[in-house]
Amino acid sequence: MHRVCISGLGVEIPPSTVTNDELVASFNSWVATENGRRAGAGLPPLAGSDAGFIAAASGVEQRHFLIADGILDPDRMTPRIPVRGDESLSVMAEFGVASALKALADAGIGGGEVDLVICAASHHQRPYPAIAVEIQQAIGAAGGAFDMNLGCSSAAAALNVAYGLVRSGTHGRVLIVTPEIISGHLDFRDRQTHFIFGDASAAMVVERVGADVAAAGRLEILGTQLGTRFSNNIRTNFGFLSRTGQDDPSVLAMEGNMIKQNGNRVFREVTVAVHRFMEAFLERHGLAPEGIRRFWLHQANARMNAMILKLMLGAEADADRAPLVLGQLGNTAAAGAVIALKEHNEDLAAGDLGLFCAFGAGYSMGAALLRKL
Ligand code: COA
Repeated sequence: MHRVCISGLGVEIPPSTVTNDELVASFNSWVATENGRRAGAGLPPLAGSDAGFIAAASGVEQRHFLIADGILDPDRMTPRIPVRGDESLSVMAEFGVASALKALADAGIGGGEVDLVICAASHHQRPYPAIAVEIQQAIGAAGGAFDMNLGCSSAAAALNVAYGLVRSGTHGRVLIVTPEIISGHLDFRDRQTHFIFGDASAAMVVERVGADVAAAGRLEILGTQLGTRFSNNIRTNFGFLSRTGQDDPSVLAMEGNMIKQNGNRVFREVTVAVHRFMEAFLERHGLAPEGIRRFWLHQANARMNAMILKLMLGAEADADRAPLVLGQLGNTAAAGAVIALKEHNEDLAAGDLGLFCAFGAGYSMGAALLRKL
């Protein structure tokens, strides 16, 4: 068995931002028009959204979108992402490559030195050819590639797989890429979810800790763990069977086919499940939460993370112990915890322990115990 580390991290954040005020103005403008129609039809009015509620309930102040054009237009409320021909690099692969190249540079290697690419994200642009294979070709990687999806835990699940494959010697260097273009599948007319998500892409290089790796400063992986328990509380029904149940299969209505969630139940159930999961994981490694210098948690909700940590530590954790990136980025699904890891690990001292933990749809939870080299 080989020792394994994360040798490179890369993050690509698109420049376009949308604030809570801008998002709420667009939502409320649509609600005003819709309520006129509903009054005529004898239907009860829809409630408006509120920027103050969003910041207080989630901690999100703004989010970045790959392409913001179209999202704030009350007549559209969907990003305008031009369709590309099959011969062009696809949008998702391009976004992934941007973060992958940064991770490769951080690891000090070229794409040709990677022998497995995993594209791990909550949404994939198409079922096949796998986005990972397209990224593999674009960066000139050898070996194999595949896509995987475990909702917001996708990167943690990929880390679990990569750790096992590198540890056993099956693969030498695995590149995990997490391009999240969640704006494309978000219902901006759903008051419960319209404010939650943002777009970002993150990437990690996983390889052996060996003589050929300048180990200092890297993050050794001491163990990984995955846990799942079925729940319908975060769900999308969109898929290849979606049109087959319709009277007119030539038109696919997206109503009811985008992300939906019962946010409050997710909040309560996942908070309890995740803190138990992390405690059990640490216990298996002979550790208590107090021994963890930094927590890189899934970036969905600031209150949720605070509650999870309070349950584990018995006291509030400050931003140094458990950094947040969601205020400026929103929930970037599987990319979120990786971004927190990238932005908040360089100050750690050799020997410091950190816990990476993502959670989300499934329900799913994935953790990695890391030690600064
Ligand atoms: N604007 C204004 N008010 C809103 C609102 C909005 N956009 N959305 C909901 N509300 C209202 C509700 O109608 C409710 O009002 P009431 O008390 O008069 O009935 C009140 O706010 C509380 O609603 P609730 O749904 O209980 O809010 P919450 O405190 O649970 O916060 C979330 C909502 C979505 C921020 C929170 O549940 C959450 O983040 N959950 C986790 C979701 C998650 O992590 N999903 C992804 C996992 S990867």
